[in-house]
Amino acid sequence: MKKIILSGILLLALGCMTQAQTVPVYLDETKPVEERIEDALGRMTLEEKVAITHAQSKFCSPGVARLGIPEFWMTDGPHGIRPEVLWDEWDQAGWTNDSCVAFPTLTCLAATWDPKVALLYGKSIGEEARYRNKTVLLGPGVNIYRSPLNGRNFEYMGEDPYLSGKMVVPYIQGVQQNGVAACVKHFALNNQEVNRHTTNVIIDDRTLYEIYLPAFKAAVQEGKAWSIMGSYNLYKDQHCCHNQYLLNDILREEWGFDGVVISDWGGVHDTQQAITNGLDMEFGSWTNGLSNGASNAYDNYYLADPYLKLIKEGKVGTKELDDKVRRILRLAYRTNMDRNRPYGALCSEAHFAAARHIGEEGIVLLQNNNNVLPIDLNKAKKIAVIGENAIKMMTVGGGSSSLKVKYEISPLDGIKKRVGDKAEVVYARGYVGDPSGEYNGVKSGQDLEDSRSPEELIAEAVAVAKDADYVIFIGGLNKSAHQDCEDADRKEIGLSYGQDKVIASLAQANKNLIVVNISGNAITMPWVKEVPTIVQAWYLGTEAGSAIASVLVGDVNPSGKLPFTFPASLQDVGAHKLGEYPGTPRNDGSNIVDEKYNEGIFVGYRWADKEKTKPLFPFGHGLSYTTFTYGKAVADKKVMGADDVLTVTVPVTNSGSREGSEVVQLYISDLKSSLPRSIKELKGFCKVKLAPGETKEVTFTIAKEALSFFDDTLHEWVAEPGKFEAIIAASATDIKSKVSFELK
Ligand code: BGC
Repeated sequence: MKKIILSGILLLALGCMTQAQTVPVYLDETKPVEERIEDALGRMTLEEKVAITHAQSKFCSPGVARLGIPEFWMTDGPHGIRPEVLWDEWDQAGWTNDSCVAFPTLTCLAATWDPKVALLYGKSIGEEARYRNKTVLLGPGVNIYRSPLNGRNFEYMGEDPYLSGKMVVPYIQGVQQNGVAACVKHFALNNQEVNRHTTNVIIDDRTLYEIYLPAFKAAVQEGKAWSIMGSYNLYKDQHCCHNQYLLNDILREEWGFDGVVISDWGGVHDTQQAITNGLDMEFGSWTNGLSNGASNAYDNYYLADPYLKLIKEGKVGTKELDDKVRRILRLAYRTNMDRNRPYGALCSEAHFAAARHIGEEGIVLLQNNNNVLPIDLNKAKKIAVIGENAIKMMTVGGGSSSLKVKYEISPLDGIKKRVGDKAEVVYARGYVGDPSGEYNGVKSGQDLEDSRSPEELIAEAVAVAKDADYVIFIGGLNKSAHQDCEDADRKEIGLSYGQDKVIASLAQANKNLIVVNISGNAITMPWVKEVPTIVQAWYLGTEAGSAIASVLVGDVNPSGKLPFTFPASLQDVGAHKLGEYPGTPRNDGSNIVDEKYNEGIFVGYRWADKEKTKPLFPFGHGLSYTTFTYGKAVADKKVMGADDVLTVTVPVTNSGSREGSEVVQLYISDLKSSLPRSIKELKGFCKVKLAPGETKEVTFTIAKEALSFFDDTLHEWVAEPGKFEAIIAASATDIKSKVSFELK
């Protein structure tokens, strides 16, 4: 017995010694990553290198099995971890352990105006991705909100480059703390779904650099994103998944990106361009994955056998290939091959709490005449809830961000639970929108079919509403095609399914009407003057109902602010007023649709300011159950040099009777410049929590960057000497105080 133990110890010791002596550099954690990459690269065959640059299934690409470099697993999406699909299909794999927490969609996150909340979001979703053993999370998205018709606006962070940039950075950091790569998407100029594969965006450099690129740049340089996804559309006649200008010139050269460019699924169209124009990993070509292949469709990918053939025939070299492989190996060391990364967690209590908190922080109180909200549960005896969105599951649908959730609390259930036996809660449908509830095989399990006529539904709703103490209409958009959904744009900016009529009828029936709009997009509200109280509630995911209920009854004091303008009409949007949306088909036999961004830098509030139009609700707007009073803003100097930092301070007081948070906004106005500029641009914001009567000083620092514009003839940012104004505001139209200063 003794002998056996001793020889065991001896073997173990020998084993350790042998391992220590022979561990190859690429596996040696004591060696710098770049050295390990070179070592791994040197060991790979040409075939292994080519194989690692493209998918081997719908969501996965091979590592190097021979060397013990694991596969790369990608997952949607920005709001929760997508359920597993079959190897070669979009359809469900039918797992029973892949339900997730659905976090609120990114418009809601942006509406919190709180980078701490973005960090919590990223950390939580990153933990879910890690637990499910994913290498790359396909999100977040920061395409700028250019038109309220874009079906995917709900997945993005609004119309302002500064706000999206500030919110995307902590999201990425939170995700990547888990050893999971964030994949920022869709780079770039993917601002609509209609013709998304064929639109060629024509845009001046100034608009590109000032409006559409800053959030991506922040993601890369400050967030240090490990991957980025090319978009479907074209820019300068090249698809953005292999685009010399965006990927090589800007992303890699100007911004110094050292991560991986991943194609959008089916976004690659050309082997030569895919080789030379900055793409690293090809996914989703021929979306069912099965056609175009005698034995293995993936061998026919643009970066598969066609690439190998060109190399073997000596028609292209291996310089680009080695660069791609280096980047992919770097991704491996940052993720799968980092043995110190945490294990993550799925559907933890903390994640449900985070989802609820993010929702509560992002809900926006748009209007609250007569202080209808918060609901007074000591007085209310009957609360009428009307509308399809009070009961419809919103986590299933919308496209690639569709989820299979562990649970989803509907607004009606959330309200019922919170109200308890304090009042009777009655429900009426009001209208029938889209009763379907299935996406790629995930079924909501709800039967929402209702064959009653619109008149019958309205009559029932009005009867229920008439004698109620409060009427809560919960409607808006949904995740069906032509609503807030991938692959198509909305057909109208107004509400569908006859909802305007239902709301107008309810407004006549009861003075205490609250409209809760669930959407990721602006809508028009022909009834805005008849309805006292309006709440913007986004798609809030798993905890939707709890978050909405806590705001309605006042457990939570709303503090969200709009991350995009609600225009009074589509004609008040630059992209529509100037008539290029959704582009003009070319007459040359190609399928390309050219679209000029004629409105230039004037997107969202920049357009409203320039045209002096009055939005329905402005960018940055959001009310509270308390009130805030702003004092006078003061600057620490009147004149600043090019390398100085100017400080602006403003006291903000909670002048009401309950605790609340206010998002204080700083806009900069360049009073005279050689190029046309927006009247003002957001350059700072700060969410402050204040007890009743409490005053806090909010301080902003302004450096030259905040004063600069992008001069496209010089191809650089320029801060022109002259007079500026720092504007302190509670929204883009609610200006509280201004300070003038001069840049020398
Ligand atoms: C979407 C991407 C998504 C990918 C994978 C594409 O259709 O545009 O956002 O990550 O599919 O599902």
